[in-house]
Amino acid sequence: MANYHVFLVFVQIGIFTVFAKPQVPCYFIFGDSLVDSGNNNELVTKAKANYLPYGIDFPQGATGRFTNGRTMADIIGELLDFDEFIPAYATATDEQINKGVNYGSGGAGIRRGTGRHLGGRISLDRQLNNHNATISRFVRLQRNSTIVNEEYLKMCLYIVNIGSNDYINNYLRPTLYTSSHKFTPFQYATILIQQYSQQLKRLYKMGARKIVLFGLAPIGCTPGEISICPKKEERCVKSINGAVAVFNNKLRLLVDKLNNDKRDAKFTFINVTHISLVQQVMPLPNLPCCKLKVDGQCAPTTVTCLVRALSIYYDGFHPTEFANNIIAKRSYVAVSHMDASPYDISHLVQL
Ligand SMILES: *[C@@H]1O[C@H](CO)[C@@H](O)[C@H](O)[C@H]1NC(C)=O
Ligand SMILES: *[C@@H]1O[C@H](CO)[C@@H](O)[C@H](O)[C@H]1NC(C)=O
Ligand SMILES: *[C@@H]1O[C@H](CO)[C@@H](O)[C@H](O)[C@H]1NC(C)=O
Repeated sequence: MANYHVFLVFVQIGIFTVFAKPQVPCYFIFGDSLVDSGNNNELVTKAKANYLPYGIDFPQGATGRFTNGRTMADIIGELLDFDEFIPAYATATDEQINKGVNYGSGGAGIRRGTGRHLGGRISLDRQLNNHNATISRFVRLQRNSTIVNEEYLKMCLYIVNIGSNDYINNYLRPTLYTSSHKFTPFQYATILIQQYSQQLKRLYKMGARKIVLFGLAPIGCTPGEISICPKKEERCVKSINGAVAVFNNKLRLLVDKLNNDKRDAKFTFINVTHISLVQQVMPLPNLPCCKLKVDGQCAPTTVTCLVRALSIYYDGFHPTEFANNIIAKRSYVAVSHMDASPYDISHLVQL
């Protein structure tokens, strides 16, 4: 009998030490190629990354992630103590969805038409439709526990990383899209933020209460934009970074407004540009790791640089796992008050 008790205690300690409980019951991911984990694989689109050298440092190889290893969303999931990556919406099973779903789609934007020339992609509006479908599926699976279900969704973490394509694959492509003919950078950012605001209110309506909004990186420093811009003497294209900064400033103001209007919700802003400054001052060239195709993505199976662990850009536009790790860690535990405001993720999940 005594031995039996000792055995039970031992087993329980074993369980707790091996499987740390995630800090939130579920984690939902919205956005573009910065977080996509395979939703575009079955779409007819140029925005695909399910071929080598993408995934060269990822355990399962090329999964559709637009980087050599983990995305920033993957790394945040690990920091939250999830023991598996959040499944892509395209392939998520009934058993998996209660831990969260990844809706991210390469080429997607706040605006529905963004990325049109690439082919199929799931815009933020459609990602929200998909989330609504997930909730219906959830309710069906849980049968009558709808109230418990709502409380459950409120405890979860939601991250949104979108807007880069509204510049890269819209405003900055004047031969393909009319937006830059019609709007100044200031007007365009205003339109984007108005639409984003409506989309975030919809996410709130679907039960989200802990919401992390990623600002845009200095897109003018990407190898893709530097190669398009004729002013080769500049390290970064200043006019592009200026346009993106207008969007970021407005997004930061939107976070304050939403926190004020929706008192039972907590929104926070991650200043990716600020976090990237550390990388900018490091003596690393803004060069891609792989051989590029004309569209700025990696050419298939080309040999990649040897020091992936010290490069910022994997292809013309996407960060390496090394850069994703810095962004994820500083959004989780802010190093300066500029990184995440008003909360970093480690504090947000405890509120
Ligand atoms: C759900 O609730 C309805 C009405 O209260 C009841 O008739 C039904 O048996 C319940 N179903 C389950 C699976 O508990
Ligand atoms: C979710 O879908 C239902 C059923 O189609 C619809 O009535 C509802 O308005 C949708 N909710 C949101 C927030 O989009
Ligand atoms: C983000 O950080 C940059 C660099 O430190 C700063 O110039 C900018 O004002 C910050 N943006 C916001 C919206 O806080």
